[in-house]
Amino acid sequence: MEHQLSYNEYLAVAELLRLQRPKSNPPHHDEMLFIIIHQTYELWFKLILHEFDAVKEDLCRDDWFTAERRLWRVVEIQRVLVSQIHILETMPPVNFLAFRDLLKPASGFQSSQFREMEFLLGLKDRRVLGCFNDDLQAKAQLERRLEESTLADEFYKAMARRGFQVAPPPQRSSFEWQSWLERTVSELVKLYVEEPADDAVYRVAERLIEVDENLSLWRYHHMKIVERIIGSRIGTGGSEGVGYLKHTLGYKAFPELWEVRSRIEFS
Ligand code: HEM
Repeated sequence: MEHQLSYNEYLAVAELLRLQRPKSNPPHHDEMLFIIIHQTYELWFKLILHEFDAVKEDLCRDDWFTAERRLWRVVEIQRVLVSQIHILETMPPVNFLAFRDLLKPASGFQSSQFREMEFLLGLKDRRVLGCFNDDLQAKAQLERRLEESTLADEFYKAMARRGFQVAPPPQRSSFEWQSWLERTVSELVKLYVEEPADDAVYRVAERLIEVDENLSLWRYHHMKIVERIIGSRIGTGGSEGVGYLKHTLGYKAFPELWEVRSRIEFS
């Protein structure tokens, strides 16, 4: 009889279920939650990266409709990512302490897919590569992401082809950054107030700010869960812990899209 594909085979369920390997011995009950929640995040991160890469290609082809639909998917995934962090609230702090030391010096700092997402969103920081000296494959992938275009690069190139006076952003540390921001915000004002607004561009811009907002929401909820579980202890990755995470709350992937709100007038 011809081999029939099964659910378990197609999804490699047996392999997937072999990938949860607690370090505690005997295994601490809550370590399974800790592993599965992180692995679930990494799977969703993989899909977000897949969508971001496709969005860049859509924008290159001036396919604004598909770009918006894919960003909508990212937004919905992010909603899940923000809400699922709360499952960790069911883990009493003392249960985490029971196996926490076994994780050192591993840390969320070393989530290379999280950094890839940040880089694609324009939050490029070469210094984070220092966390990947023992993971050369991840480091090489991040090097590639540092070199490649961001979502904002493709967004502004596509807008320029549509007749807007915009250009891809320069490096944030460069002296051109502030003037780029000024020029871009004044051009974006047209999109946000003038009629007829360019609906396709407007919708993508609103999805991009939503992605940015959801990333900030994730940072906030993660920071609070960390405070709830480890208080003011230093992180397993060696950072100050909650203090460091608070500092990241101000990051903005698209500062110009936030700024435009302060510049528009109702007439
Ligand atoms: C008990 C639960 C958790 C604790 C206590 C915790 C703690 C921390 C701490 C203290 C940091 C700062 C870096 C360090 O010094 O290690 C950090 C960073 C990070 N964690 Fe968590 N975390 C938890 C759950 C998670 C989960 C479920 C994820 C999902 C992927 C995650 C992803 C990250 C990421 C991506 C960073 C880097 C953030 C940045 O640099 O902006 N963490 N975590």
